[in-house]
Amino acid sequence: MQAMTVPLEERAPALSVEQLGVRYGALVALDGVTWSVRPGEVLGIIGPNGAGKSSCYDAVTAMVKRQGRVVLQGHDVTQVPPYRLAELGLKRAFQQNAFFDDLSVLDNLVAVLGRRSHSSLLGSVFSPLAATRLRGKASTFAAAQLVRFGVPAAYHDLSPKEIPYGVQRMLSIALAYGHGAHVLMLDEPAAGLGGDDMVRLVELLGSLKSEGVALVVIEHHMDLIMAVADRICVLDLGRQLAYDVPAKIQHDPRVLEAYLGKPQ
Ligand SMILES: Nc1ncnc2c1ncn2[C@@H]1O[C@H](COP(=O)(O)OP(=O)(O)OP(=O)(O)O)[C@@H](O)[C@H]1O
Ligand SMILES: [Mg+2]
Repeated sequence: MQAMTVPLEERAPALSVEQLGVRYGALVALDGVTWSVRPGEVLGIIGPNGAGKSSCYDAVTAMVKRQGRVVLQGHDVTQVPPYRLAELGLKRAFQQNAFFDDLSVLDNLVAVLGRRSHSSLLGSVFSPLAATRLRGKASTFAAAQLVRFGVPAAYHDLSPKEIPYGVQRMLSIALAYGHGAHVLMLDEPAAGLGGDDMVRLVELLGSLKSEGVALVVIEHHMDLIMAVADRICVLDLGRQLAYDVPAKIQHDPRVLEAYLGKPQ
């Protein structure tokens, strides 16, 4: 990871997308979208409902058929499948929460972390003690990670269904981040959050940013995105309407029109 002492503008992009396009049958959901995000930068993606924001994430993470090019850490990953992109450090949380409801909150994260740990089935048969120790280590790490991501210890043994919605949103970010990320893409993380949760989210974004994670955040809360984003990409009807710093976006007549409608 590049030293965060290098000024933001001089850092090489962690992720660049060029001319992304998505079609669902006759519907053009995304057309010619181009942006990049650097280590330690927050890129906001905003736009009215149906603008193509989630489709943009689907396009970046190869979850839909799409046009365009995706470059991660300087490597062209356009042809790389979604699970490999995650292994390469491109991580994504979804607009809808998705958990293993039969597992505790803690074990949801242990399961995600376990995908990369060495506790194989064979290992647990032939060296059960070592496997138990490894699981213990994974639990300790997961518990600390959850607290860092705004999921207090009191919720760790509950089912995700039983914890408040705001905490579920934080859990979904922790699950997406897993062992770590070069790029973390969040889809409306603040949806349904109360004031205290919102403060925790802003703190978490700040701490990930200071560690050099490149953050991409889709958000409808304008005050939140204007406060945390370094740059903002505005989508409307699948097209990129504007791409600039928040102070410019706030006063861009095209953006105001997309949100408020054409003046009569
Ligand atoms: N799987 C799909 N099949 C067909 N059309 C789709 C599909 N997914 C999205 N769409 C359409 O593509 C357009 C963009 O949808 P998308 O979900 O990307 O918008 P969004 O900006 O994320 O909206 P929201 O703010 O409501 O989450 C919409 O018109 C939507 O109805
Ligand atoms: Mg969406």
